[in-house]
Amino acid sequence: MHQFLFGIYPYIALSVLLVGSIARYERDPFTWKTSSSQLLRRRQLIIGSILFHVGVLIIFFGHLIGLLTPIAVFDALGISHGAKQLLAVVAGGVAGAMALIGGGMLFHRRWTDPRIRKTSSFADIAILALLLAQLVLGLGTIFVSLQHLDGHEMTKFMTWAQMIFTFRSGAADQIADAALVFKLHLFLGLTIFLVFPFTRLAHVLSGFFAPLRYLFLRPGYQIVRSRRRRPLDDRRRAFDQQQAKTGPSASTPAE
Ligand code: HEM
Repeated sequence: MHQFLFGIYPYIALSVLLVGSIARYERDPFTWKTSSSQLLRRRQLIIGSILFHVGVLIIFFGHLIGLLTPIAVFDALGISHGAKQLLAVVAGGVAGAMALIGGGMLFHRRWTDPRIRKTSSFADIAILALLLAQLVLGLGTIFVSLQHLDGHEMTKFMTWAQMIFTFRSGAADQIADAALVFKLHLFLGLTIFLVFPFTRLAHVLSGFFAPLRYLFLRPGYQIVRSRRRRPLDDRRRAFDQQQAKTGPSASTPAE
């Protein structure tokens, strides 16, 4: 079972994440966003949303760099395992608490306001609940990490993650003796990857890919919205006259 959960399940979750995200983008590009309820309970939304998003972004980049940077790089930079462990506990702890408080406010708003509840799908509520549970588990790992401040335990998770990403066998063995709270945290994290494309979490990718798409795929592309109030037909005629043509044959630059 351990081999399946931490040796095979990661590949299932990551594949669904990748293929599901591409499929959703291709099939339903207009659902690639969050459904807004921002007119309702605005104050709670703003404070909760800022705390949640800032906290989660710090955790995301912390996890990405912390888990996937080769241990040799930290060694070469002279960053000891103990120092890295302490940083993960302190920075991750503060960011995790922020995200938990913010996420709690967002959940409370969505759950208790009947109008917002009505605009929320099952997936909207479930993904928020999963993220909150994941934050509680993540913060729970801190109590175990505090007993291993030499950073030895943390290097096992780094090795596991790096072996998974480089397709090496035996990854699951690295964390066979990890504490239960860590295993639950890893399993739920992978499950969040698995359901990611089917929930409003998919909007995260827009944040990363929209600027890239704009810069590299459509360089020079710009959306211009005209504020002119003259009807289109009037503008067409005026343009045609200006071009000494008759009839609405030419398109105006504002179309
Ligand atoms: C598959 C995905 C994930 C993996 C493999 C993972 C792994 C880990 C590991 C190994 C630690 C312990 C770091 C240490 O102190 O040595 C940790 C801590 C933590 N994780 Fe995750 N995690 C994942 C997803 C998430 C998600 C989605 C969240 C938030 C929604 C989260 C929130 C936290 C928090 C708050 C901590 C405690 C603070 C810290 O040590 O950084 N994790 N995670």
